[in-house]
Amino acid sequence: MSGTRINAVKGMHDLLPESAPLWQRIETTARRVFGLYGFEEIRTPLVEPTALFVRGIGEDTDVVGKEMYSFVDKGEEPLSLRPEGTASAVRAYVEHDRHTIDPIQKWFYYGPMFRRERPGKGRYRQFHQIGAELFGVADPRADIEMIAVVHRFLTEVGVSGVVLRMNSLGDADSRPAYREALVQYFTPHEERLGETDRQRLKTNPLRLLDSKDPAVVELAGRAPSTLDHLSPASAAHFQAVKDGLSALGVPFEVDPSIVRGLDYYTRTTFEFVATSGLGSQSTVAGGGRYDGMVAELGGPPTPAIGFALGVERLAMLLEVQAPAAKRGPDLFLGTHGEGDAVTLRALQLAETCRTAGLRVEVTLKPVGVGKQLQRANRVNARFAAVVGDGELQSGTIKLKELATGRETPVLLVDLPSALRGLLENVTP
Ligand code: HAM
Repeated sequence: MSGTRINAVKGMHDLLPESAPLWQRIETTARRVFGLYGFEEIRTPLVEPTALFVRGIGEDTDVVGKEMYSFVDKGEEPLSLRPEGTASAVRAYVEHDRHTIDPIQKWFYYGPMFRRERPGKGRYRQFHQIGAELFGVADPRADIEMIAVVHRFLTEVGVSGVVLRMNSLGDADSRPAYREALVQYFTPHEERLGETDRQRLKTNPLRLLDSKDPAVVELAGRAPSTLDHLSPASAAHFQAVKDGLSALGVPFEVDPSIVRGLDYYTRTTFEFVATSGLGSQSTVAGGGRYDGMVAELGGPPTPAIGFALGVERLAMLLEVQAPAAKRGPDLFLGTHGEGDAVTLRALQLAETCRTAGLRVEVTLKPVGVGKQLQRANRVNARFAAVVGDGELQSGTIKLKELATGRETPVLLVDLPSALRGLLENVTP
């Protein structure tokens, strides 16, 4: 072998065929469940102007301050790989004046995101999110619906042991008092803060609550709670969300530590957390309200709420709890003998079956029948058949069910319908 191997970038992974069926199930379920609630798909570019994330998510957040893949395109324009989907969705809402069509827009998205974090179990540099955003509704019914759709998705995809934790960060009227309470609380401990956190105490004290520095994590655990500083309107909103979820039978816990790592949140925040199986990266999905962001990014004042789920983390849970079965071909079609007539007839038969919607693998190499049948087993085919001169002369072929060894002779001209009939009668 010549040449050295080139491996994938650290923290970025291939999805190999063995894992694809589970990911496909996750995607199909997401499309179906979001469709039930009227969410429509959007696809935005993977690369955006860096300013979008700096303004939309906030410079003091780890995601923007430390983890973005940013570059200056040909010395002209600062660009970044998207670290999340909400800022892009808001940009698209504003750029396409969607509010003029209907201020209420319900969108979902699926795709890769990029954060230069320290790679570890459940934490990657390229990862995938399924997310949704609901624009144009300030009413708590939007919060209830957003949380209910995530809950339903997790239930229908078949995952268990995931709990919902909720909090309220309050609105613009609640913020100044809460900010002041945090400054009062952290200032006497200022000498325990690292340089970044000391700076954050001045510019954005809420960010101290999701600092990863162990000393600050410990302090943050005893910090004043947002829930004690809610304006009457925010408190009423939060109560309505809780009442709605209870009415729908969606279980939740109130957890004042759910402050989230992005600056744009107001009022309701929530996380779906796995109770086991994911180690320290146990948050499967997170989201909340961001009523100021559309205006912040140049649109009309528009309330909004959304969430995003980490597909890798969900797949890790499902691999243990509800793995996907590999689906092999319906038929493996082998050949016996090497004449052109046999090879061509086998290729034709395979195409005829595929036209009838059957999944067929046809042998691609002139190897012995034994080897071909080994491959039929390896690819997990339901039936195998071998065409040779004899079959061409008699016009019949034997369909062998691999699980039982049972053989059924059928006319070559009837192969698609006969195979369909057998597949439908066979107990899987
Ligand atoms: P987030 O909490 O930053 O929120 O990310 C959402 C989910 O993405 C996390 O709960 C986790 O499952 C997954 N995730 C995040 N970082 C990584 C990583 N490095 N490796 C693997 N999985 C990861 C957002 O991104 C917001 N945009 C959610 C949102 C939508 N809020 C409102 N609308």
